[in-house]
Amino acid sequence: MSEDSFFTRELLAWYELNGRDLPWRRSRDPYGVWLSEIILQQTRIVQGTAYWQRFMDRFPTVQALAAATEDEVLRLWEGLGYYSRARNLHAAARQIVALGRFPDTLDGLRSLKGVGDYSAAAIGSIAFGLPAAVLDGNVYRVLARYFGLATPVGTTAAKKEFSARAQSLLPEGRSADFNQALMDFGALQCTPASPRCGDCPLAVRCQALREGRVELLPVRKTPVAVQNRYLSWVYLRFNGRTAVCKRAAVDIWQGLWQPLLLEGEMACPPIPGTLSACGRVTLLRGGLRHRLTHRLLVCDLYLLDCARQPQLPDGYVWINEAELERYGKPKPFELLLEMLAERESI
Ligand code: ADE
Repeated sequence: MSEDSFFTRELLAWYELNGRDLPWRRSRDPYGVWLSEIILQQTRIVQGTAYWQRFMDRFPTVQALAAATEDEVLRLWEGLGYYSRARNLHAAARQIVALGRFPDTLDGLRSLKGVGDYSAAAIGSIAFGLPAAVLDGNVYRVLARYFGLATPVGTTAAKKEFSARAQSLLPEGRSADFNQALMDFGALQCTPASPRCGDCPLAVRCQALREGRVELLPVRKTPVAVQNRYLSWVYLRFNGRTAVCKRAAVDIWQGLWQPLLLEGEMACPPIPGTLSACGRVTLLRGGLRHRLTHRLLVCDLYLLDCARQPQLPDGYVWINEAELERYGKPKPFELLLEMLAERESI
């Protein structure tokens, strides 16, 4: 038997016994499958399952999601990060409703906002049985080890090589099982650290294991440098009201709401005298570090209790503090509010 057919046969047998019981696998409803794939681009299974359930409870159909406002969707997405994904999810729901049906081809799926090659293959195979192999971190790892492939992941060459390999392994009529088997196998058996080679059904023909290179594969491309940003977040309070501004569509946290925000090049900027003259300034937390994929944010979180009403920069509006919970907020703003609540409960 060839390496390829041994691999596929053993993988599917492993999946029969070890596949995870995930809620969107219980039906082939394309809406539930699509939603799961978009959420899982962003987070791990446990947290992703909880978010998926929240979305399905709140928006049980694609029509319900399309009818929501963008702010409602962003609020439900809160905590997952990469808010452009939530905005794309919402826009795609409207595309599907306008189309009158869920697209069931790879090109049709790719025409949806937020759906690229990976998601189109995942949704297409799982919901519609299309013969398309998925390529994610798990797939790269399992194939790199089993076949001893050392092309650095993240390069165009690797994408070509690994996707051709995955496609050639795909069994006819079982693309949904094969793709999900690879995902689960990578997550449970052929894990990044301490893979379970001792009870692995593929071990007998695994090239990396034979050559003692399991820990060395897959090979990673050198990472891009992390950029630092320095932000001072100022919570203004005046007569039970606070000032917020909706973030523009050209930066992180697009469309979320922020308190007064000052940005510096090398350090968090101090509060300008024109503002601090309006009341009492309290530093709630200095030097808070918040890590994003390619950026490290260093944040100072302030409360400015105003005795008189300060002049707001363009774009900021006053809202009642009690209404804040209705606004989607970046994580550091959430932390600021938690610190404020803690301070006031003492
Ligand atoms: N990660 C992304 N999509 C997944 C799926 N359908 N099953 C398990 N893990 C996944």
